[in-house]
Amino acid sequence: MRGIVLAGGTGSRLWPVTRAVSKQLLPVFDKPMIYYPLSVLVEAGVEEILIITTPQDRPLFVRLLGDGGQFGLRLSYAEQPRPEGIAQAFLLGADFVGDQPVALILGDNIFHGLGTQLDLSGELTGGRIFAYPVANPRDYGVVEFDRDGNVVSIEEKPVMPRSRHVVPGLYFYDHHVVDIARGLTPSARGELEITAVNEIYRRRGQLRVTVLDRGTAWLDTGTFEAMVQASEYVRVISERQGRKVGCLEEAVWRAGLIDNDQLRALARPLRHNGYGQYLEDLLTDASAVVP
Ligand code: TTP
Repeated sequence: MRGIVLAGGTGSRLWPVTRAVSKQLLPVFDKPMIYYPLSVLVEAGVEEILIITTPQDRPLFVRLLGDGGQFGLRLSYAEQPRPEGIAQAFLLGADFVGDQPVALILGDNIFHGLGTQLDLSGELTGGRIFAYPVANPRDYGVVEFDRDGNVVSIEEKPVMPRSRHVVPGLYFYDHHVVDIARGLTPSARGELEITAVNEIYRRRGQLRVTVLDRGTAWLDTGTFEAMVQASEYVRVISERQGRKVGCLEEAVWRAGLIDNDQLRALARPLRHNGYGQYLEDLLTDASAVVP
């Protein structure tokens, strides 16, 4: 399976902070925001990842992550000049997806505790999305279920939401998603909507939805308040458990993509703060075998 991180956008709700730098490069507590979605893809078993950024931010992402070799990953980059919709990721990444299933994650979505909910049982056909209850469903794609858990409707930012469950920015599709995206026309707000992709899979009877456990955290980072809350959440969990959240170096090591020596090499430049020490401790801490 291939993975795409969609990390373009204008970040206008965070202006002036994001005037000069991508939202997805801003810190969420102790690491750049993009580490969190990258770690989720690694936990889902993805090793080949396309990062879609704005043309002006691309060199900064390359400076941070390079070709991913140091993480045992294969990273490539594509540019989205304007934010013309989440589903545009599949047009920009059409060649990258090829005939593989693909996981798409938004670069500003923070998940914690997905665990086995990321396991895709068997071959992926159609689409697989998640649902999460929130207090403000109007701001998201809202998903409505019947009593048997079948999806009845999905609506983008409805004025009158039919449920409190919304669709977080993590989606799994078979390779047909590229053709589906090619057939879309822009919505009233001028975007190729991911909700339209999901609606097509739903009508085909090929959309599976998993309601995330209430122990799973899903945070977004679109506003100043949300940024601070996400940072604080990560800080509280990390300090309490002594385990980092969204630690890419740890994720690739746990996934067996890098060995102990490579983890040591990643830790070395981070010696000046607790980050490097944390990575080195993973190698000696017997309890670190527990994921
Ligand atoms: P949004 O939060 O909808 O948009 P934004 O990040 O540009 O912020 P603002 O609304 O403050 O201007 O985007 C959600 C995520 O999806 C974010 O990580 C950016 C990404 N995105 C793109 O990269 N390209 C797009 O065309 C869209 C719609 C979103």
